[in-house]
Amino acid sequence: MKMRFVQRSFVALALACCVAVPAFAVQQTTATPRPAAPPTTGAAHSEIDHAHVPQHAVAVVFPTQGNDVRGVVVLQQDGDDITVRGRMINLTPGKHGFHIHQYGDLRSVDGKSAGGHYDPEGHDHGGPDASSHHVGDLGNIEANEEGTAEFKMTIKGHKVHLLVGRAIVVHEGEDDLKSQPSGAAGPRAGVGVVGIANPEDNS
Ligand code: CU
Ligand code: ZN
Repeated sequence: MKMRFVQRSFVALALACCVAVPAFAVQQTTATPRPAAPPTTGAAHSEIDHAHVPQHAVAVVFPTQGNDVRGVVVLQQDGDDITVRGRMINLTPGKHGFHIHQYGDLRSVDGKSAGGHYDPEGHDHGGPDASSHHVGDLGNIEANEEGTAEFKMTIKGHKVHLLVGRAIVVHEGEDDLKSQPSGAAGPRAGVGVVGIANPEDNS
């Protein structure tokens, strides 16, 4: 549907151009010169791109169908590393697998549309302190008797802007830090998309 609209628009534009050429040619002699366009060098582009690389991201975690977990996770660039901290409520007491998954796609009610663990380097699943593991392997968070987990952890040698658009997932069960491909942590209890944080909100 959209493609058909684009094609029609293109045809209409092409026709309009053909018709408009004579009129434009006459007007051109009296038109005042336009100011020169700003330079578009590679250097200017890279400065703009750099200014917009996010250093601070946030994910608001919502429950999957049949669960109640909620929370907020903040991700901050700290030099070469990323500091991850947050708070989750309405968990069952104990450990829960906690990962960054590949896609920020929450279309399925069970969270499975978020895909597997974020793994840009093609590693096996493991604990965050293992010599080799998925970048998204954050291990476990542990909820107290009230079902609340507060946590802080580090992702070494990675950039926060590469996590924007992916998903934070907290699981119903514990990540055993060794089972492939995802630590046998069970169903997904809560999910949230990592977005660029508003710098004026430090909650
Ligand atoms: Cu997971
Ligand atoms: Zn993993």
